[in-house]
Amino acid sequence: MSAFKTLDDLGDVTGKVALVRVDFNVPMNDGVVTDDTRIRAAAPTILQLAEKGAKVLLLAHFGRPKGERVPSMSLSMVVGAVEKVLGKEVMFVPEVAGDVVKQAVGILRAGDIAILENTRFWKGEEKNEAELAAAIAANGDFYVNDAFSAAHRAHASTEGLARVLPAYAGRSMQAELEALEKALGAPEKPVAAVVGGAKVSSKLDVLKHLVTQVDHLIIGGGMANTFLAAKGVDVGKSLCEHDLTGTANEILDTADQSGCTVHLPYEVVVSKEFAANPPSLRTCNVHEVAADEMILDVGPLAVEALGDVLKTCRTVVWNGPLGAFETVPFDAATVALARTAAALTREGSLTSVAGGGDTVAALHHAGVAEDFSYISTAGGAFLEWMEGRELPGVAALEA
Ligand code: 3PG
Repeated sequence: MSAFKTLDDLGDVTGKVALVRVDFNVPMNDGVVTDDTRIRAAAPTILQLAEKGAKVLLLAHFGRPKGERVPSMSLSMVVGAVEKVLGKEVMFVPEVAGDVVKQAVGILRAGDIAILENTRFWKGEEKNEAELAAAIAANGDFYVNDAFSAAHRAHASTEGLARVLPAYAGRSMQAELEALEKALGAPEKPVAAVVGGAKVSSKLDVLKHLVTQVDHLIIGGGMANTFLAAKGVDVGKSLCEHDLTGTANEILDTADQSGCTVHLPYEVVVSKEFAANPPSLRTCNVHEVAADEMILDVGPLAVEALGDVLKTCRTVVWNGPLGAFETVPFDAATVALARTAAALTREGSLTSVAGGGDTVAALHHAGVAEDFSYISTAGGAFLEWMEGRELPGVAALEA
């Protein structure tokens, strides 16, 4: 495990000012937070620091205001949702640095919590300017990063601050890093990866990296069609990036050389139109797709075989659905394999880690999100981690 400090390494923080980077980039509709998962994820860190008597200043971004004060992206809008989750009053401070923050710190008592304004209202944030990091740091005693989902950004509040103040991983960051380490850093073998989603192009680097890391790569979703086409299968009208068949073949070659078995669907669910329960729906061998049909899901026998693969594994890391899961019945393969992974996890034979917006939605849809060993709240950061890239926000904590 990499060396980073956690809240356990903090001494007496009574009256000290904690600058805590959280990810409050939450879905919002008409000024109302519609999903508070990320706020709930940050709550243990915030409450533990408050209980230890720190004055907690929360730093976060919201949307992409590009260095301007955009009122509709003010973090004042999340205060109510944060108070509800924490069960405590939270002050809002319309700045991130300077005298206004200093005065707020003067008003706060030990154990009080404040949210500072959207860090991205300042141009120096995304440029990771040392001046901005220093100005923010001037009002704090130490820095805690609890925003894994923003750790792929080298910004002043995600990276710069860790360089100028004593830096610690928050509880959710710690849990995330520990889970990811178990999944790909030092996993129990054999390891399987499930990668789905529409396009190979959006996950090229993920696939290239995974075939050198895992024993089994299960490819589903639209991206499987590109691999099938690369192997000379006629995929009819299916979504397929024909210009990437050469790249798909290179990935298959690398897998071969690395001892990674790639599993592509041999049986598929097809239809002439993409609609819920279409009349032309049928299941067939992958070599029997007609010219006017499209592949929309993995067939039931093929999913069962994939379940058998998972039964031989000790670890699975999952990103992306196996079929067009938002439309019935093309959710069947994703649901079935997710349930198998969940059952194996419950039995204790499999460590299962999943991440990415679509994936989390699919696992909730399958009713198994609670059974996975770990579900990441991160989108882009999870993908960059699956690409084997160093995340600047994490690297700064380890420095
Ligand atoms: C996210 O929502 O994935 C993170 O908060 C990062 O947001 P960003 O893509 O705007 O940097």
